Amino acid sequence: MLVLGIESSCDDTAASVVSDGRSILSSVVASQIDFHSKYGGVVPEIASRRHIEVIAPVIAQALRDSNVKLSDIDGISVTRGPGLIGSLLVGLSVAKAIAFAGKIPYVGVNHIEGHIAAISLCDDCPAFPFIALVVSGGHTSIYLVNNYGDCEVLGQTKDDAAGEAFDKAAKLMGIGYPGGYIIDSLAKDGNRNLIAFPRAMKDSLDFSFSGLKTSLVTMIKKYGRPFSKEDLPDIAASYQEAIIDVLVDKTFKAAQNTGVSSVVICGGVASNSRLREKSYEMARDKGMKVFIPPTAYCTDNAAMIAALGYHFLKTGRSDPLNLNAVSRWPIGGKTKS
Ligand code: KG4
Ligand code: ZN
Repeated sequence: MLVLGIESSCDDTAASVVSDGRSILSSVVASQIDFHSKYGGVVPEIASRRHIEVIAPVIAQALRDSNVKLSDIDGISVTRGPGLIGSLLVGLSVAKAIAFAGKIPYVGVNHIEGHIAAISLCDDCPAFPFIALVVSGGHTSIYLVNNYGDCEVLGQTKDDAAGEAFDKAAKLMGIGYPGGYIIDSLAKDGNRNLIAFPRAMKDSLDFSFSGLKTSLVTMIKKYGRPFSKEDLPDIAASYQEAIIDVLVDKTFKAAQNTGVSSVVICGGVASNSRLREKSYEMARDKGMKVFIPPTAYCTDNAAMIAALGYHFLKTGRSDPLNLNAVSRWPIGGKTKS
């Protein structure tokens, strides 16, 4: 079964063709970083306008790369939410238009579940149930995943997402956007134990990153001048360690509490080299197994959306053309129709 995936929930416009939910025939991602970097974050109005400009060429490219004609596509899977409403509507409307014109069934799927489904595109993929840490610019949650579309929330952030904590820190330090990748790179040459940034909510599976950000603000105020080039690696490494410590600790605690030995880490922050290193170390120590998609399938992409949609489309599910986009859609929560 050939599924065309379409993703436009935030600032990446993506399309992909995936065969039988496993094999990626093409994956095209048009990044908008250059359009948002001067603002230090995603500007929703700019994002939705840019999606409109590039979505048709991105889909055409995905079909060309996969050597597949639109008439060969058996189903369309599109991100319905959560995300920026103006951005979501572009992808959803295009998916509906193609579905209607080509008489192709389509489904609107959850972006967070899409991140989790990215692991099903890998050769090494765990059986259900597994624990999933979804950690990105908009989400930081731990789930017990029983099946596609069947998850239980075990812990989630009470304020900022981990990716946001990276991006806001980079903005405060004046080192650019998006912050996660820049801090990760700087941290490689820094001492991660130099500054004791706080680790919040130690006895819970929930997260809080706002205190961490505040402690960086306080430190910057005390410093009284911009950080020097020599200081930045140590600050980046110590700050990063405070985020990675709690992510890894809570995720493996969740696995232990539920008696599940497979852990999936996914979402944009799963590209982080220290998170990868520390998770593999922890899994080894605890006799568990950790699964992390390649970085291209950790950050937003449409292959993960196609992979997820395949599991619904193959059961004959097809959504109606009046389906709405939903900006907030927690897994397991109720969606507005
Ligand atoms: O999944 P994603 O592409 O978009 C959302 O759904 O949010 O995640 C983007 C987030 C950004 O906050 C970005 O700074 C973070 O992922 N990120 C990283 C790294 N690469 C991307 N954070 C830490 N280390 C990285 N190497
Ligand atoms: Zn995402």
